[in-house]
Amino acid sequence: MSGLLLGIETSCDETAAALVDASGRVLSSVIASQIAIHSNFGGVVPELASRAHEQSILQVVREAFVIAGLEPAASQLDAVAVTKGPGLAGALMVGVAAAKALALGWGVPLVGVNHLEGHIFALELDEVVVRFPIAVLVVSGGHTMVVRVQERGVYQILGETLDDAAGEAFDKVARFLGLGYPGGPEIERVASDGNPKAVRIPRAKTKGIYDFSFSGPKTSVVNFVRANPSIAISDVAASFQSSVVEVLVERTIAAAVATGCVGIGLSGGVGANTLLRERLEQLGFRAGLATYIPKKVNCTDNGAMIASAGRFILERYGPSDADMDAYPSLRLA
Ligand code: KG4
Ligand code: ZN
Repeated sequence: MSGLLLGIETSCDETAAALVDASGRVLSSVIASQIAIHSNFGGVVPELASRAHEQSILQVVREAFVIAGLEPAASQLDAVAVTKGPGLAGALMVGVAAAKALALGWGVPLVGVNHLEGHIFALELDEVVVRFPIAVLVVSGGHTMVVRVQERGVYQILGETLDDAAGEAFDKVARFLGLGYPGGPEIERVASDGNPKAVRIPRAKTKGIYDFSFSGPKTSVVNFVRANPSIAISDVAASFQSSVVEVLVERTIAAAVATGCVGIGLSGGVGANTLLRERLEQLGFRAGLATYIPKKVNCTDNGAMIASAGRFILERYGPSDADMDAYPSLRLA
């Protein structure tokens, strides 16, 4: 078999590798999470992340081949794709070094991928055919932005967070409420039997109409709980979740409609949030937009999205140079 891409992702706290074929079919996607390592610290500790990536990267790659039922061999691969940025410097370097070594050893091309472009290409996994232009909400622990994708590879950032990323705000509020790390799934779990209208959380004003700000809403939750210590945590979690989701959905749809998009997409770790997925689907449909919402494992960091973007970059621009580095502050556009 040939035509496969190996995608490697180590930009944050997930060591991931996947094999994806030319039509976007995911043959295997292995994700070694470092949650257990970082949870005691309430956030990602960069040095520990790099070390954990080093310890597991080759095993994760090996497993990707085993699950696909293949022997690691050059003949099956069109290229090795790897996240080159943005992300934690030391963490990125582990993935880039491993990808370079594997590509060199197998004699196949190396392709560097922007992590954010990877999130956008997650929409096309599992043989989904996207009709452009679309507006994609990329929402994770490190990023919150609405990107207009005119066509594959042509990006315009329509809005961005001015302070905390949405996932970061979930993590901080969860920590304040004494919930575990990462906070997003914890807030979602606790919110399930809470009243989303219990706490009124003011909308943050932003100069750019499609920008976001989550630091103010987070502070107003903290202040409310301090003033009302007997409030149920489930009510606080439900109210916070609902306020973040509503603003994300509203601005993504408004940005899509205003810029002539025919669809909207969702990607990034917060894209695993059920309320966000449902509201985007519902309100997108109501606005006459096609919705592209990858399954949850393809929203959080993974190797398949890197392979998916890597295929496009390889075909459009050719392989990356052998002196490719890690670029912690890489921008999308
Ligand atoms: O994309 P990701 O896996 O890693 C990066 O930050 O790049 O996203 C992780 C973020 C964390 O902040 C986590 O709390 C959030 O995604 N998250 C969620 C959910 N699952 C993960 N936020 C809300 N609801 C969820 N179900
Ligand atoms: Zn990510």
